[in-house]
Amino acid sequence: MTSEPELIRSVRNPLIQAVRRLHRSSGRREQGRILLEGTHLLQETLRLGLKPELLLATPAWLEGHGALRQRLPPGVPLRSCTEEVLRAAATTLHPDGVLLALPAAGLPAPAEARADFVLALDRLQDPGNLGTLLRTALAAGVQQVWLGDGADPLQPKVLRASSGAALALPVERLEAAALHARLATARSAGLQLVAAVVPEAEGGARPYWELDWRRPTALLLGNEGAGLDPELTRLADRRVTIPHSPAVESLNVAAAAALLLLERSRQAHGRPGPALHRPAP
Ligand SMILES: C[S@@+](CC[C@H](N)C(=O)[O-])C[C@H]1O[C@@H](n2cnc3c(N)ncnc32)[C@H](O)[C@@H]1O
Repeated sequence: MTSEPELIRSVRNPLIQAVRRLHRSSGRREQGRILLEGTHLLQETLRLGLKPELLLATPAWLEGHGALRQRLPPGVPLRSCTEEVLRAAATTLHPDGVLLALPAAGLPAPAEARADFVLALDRLQDPGNLGTLLRTALAAGVQQVWLGDGADPLQPKVLRASSGAALALPVERLEAAALHARLATARSAGLQLVAAVVPEAEGGARPYWELDWRRPTALLLGNEGAGLDPELTRLADRRVTIPHSPAVESLNVAAAAALLLLERSRQAHGRPGPALHRPAP
């Protein structure tokens, strides 16, 4: 029989205070941990073989998730708290009953080995966009994501919007100058640098389907308001666009990314996705 952990009833409990500090990037840096919220992200964590450093759950969640608890690796500290305390520890208004802390060191680091499909994002601000982009990038077979400044990829909102993809994909955040240098090096190593620009962009662009996406590629996408830094656009070998009605100036960056990133697998296989689910025979 599994013994139940002692119930934490106060938000002033030091453990709860430590979890709350994970809402901020300074707290995450200090503790070297990130905060994941909800049953789905716990399932993804376990599926990827990552070991939480703490699991905090309400008694109702613990009672209803016996099978998932059995899948926890040995030695994961399990603490229980009231619904009110869990709400205070979470960043969401309606947490589903469980939170976990994960060591940041366990996340995939950009490999030393050369990647031949890279997504580079210039100053992406919106955590929802960034999380959605990471999810699409993983689905499309992107091997590394390079972020030039912008939103912190380890903040809870990005992790939730990525639906766990942020735990599986090597993501590196660089300063703007370092991103420029990284892309220049990648270009010398043989990657084509492809800048995604809006249809009316100065200097024009080819429709994205005319590009050979099967070549080693780094796709560059720009900030939600300002678009791509002109220096990055100049550095690129190719400019592509998704033609659309002039009734709008541009697409949402994550919507644009879905078409562009998945075009690579469409060209390679004539259908979406090397690792995509195939219908059962
Ligand atoms: C919301 S848009 C930025 C709009 C900005 N005013 C501009 O001029 O680029 C954010 C990013 O999404 C990508 N994007 C949006 N619409 C696109 C389209 N129709 N074709 C290609 N990329 C697009 C580009 O990388 C762009 O920098």
